[in-house]
Amino acid sequence: MQNDIDVLSISRIAKNFDIFVNYCEDKKNDVGHTFHSNIASTDLYKNIKEMIQTIDYNEMYFCKSYSEKDHNKHMDQYQKHGYGKANTRMLRSEIAGVPVIEDFMQNYLKLKHGRAKINSQPPGNFFPVHIDYLAGWTKQNPGLAEQYTYPQFKRYILFLDNRSNGHFYSINNNLIDYVEGDIVEQHFYSWHATANGDLKNKILIAFEGIHND
Ligand SMILES: [Fe+2]
Repeated sequence: MQNDIDVLSISRIAKNFDIFVNYCEDKKNDVGHTFHSNIASTDLYKNIKEMIQTIDYNEMYFCKSYSEKDHNKHMDQYQKHGYGKANTRMLRSEIAGVPVIEDFMQNYLKLKHGRAKINSQPPGNFFPVHIDYLAGWTKQNPGLAEQYTYPQFKRYILFLDNRSNGHFYSINNNLIDYVEGDIVEQHFYSWHATANGDLKNKILIAFEGIHND
């Protein structure tokens, strides 16, 4: 199974989701993240924060994100446990084309073919524990998904606020104790979940793409 993930393209695995689920299941007790850096005091961060004031968000729901037929059986289990439209709401905006973000992805995070989205989670909502099978990136980059493997894919989370009482972000059973400006690398195989039990939105940016090393 190790070998499958190392050699099969992202698109091959995405078409046979069970291989990826089983692989991640085996890794669920591994460390799922690495602290990267804190950029809160940089001009770069100031520019990102300024840019965010101009963003319009779209509404999405976790339970809709697994709409592909192959993944329905995985989605069923979430619905069985009570997750649905009423408690998995997320406000989201894709911002990869914005110059300050593009520059940050390419030159600071060293990501090529990058995708970036702001996630603003309103109070009372969950993103229940899941793995990212790269559906969005694969849809945007079908040719590249034939070419690259999961281990070549990186994801970074930039937290835009200090963690407040009731804000949760958990990766492979580690609660991330972040402060504003922290960047965490979230490993591709990790199971992760977020929740917001505070009274204000929880906001972060997720960057993903192929590492340019
Ligand atoms: Fe995720």
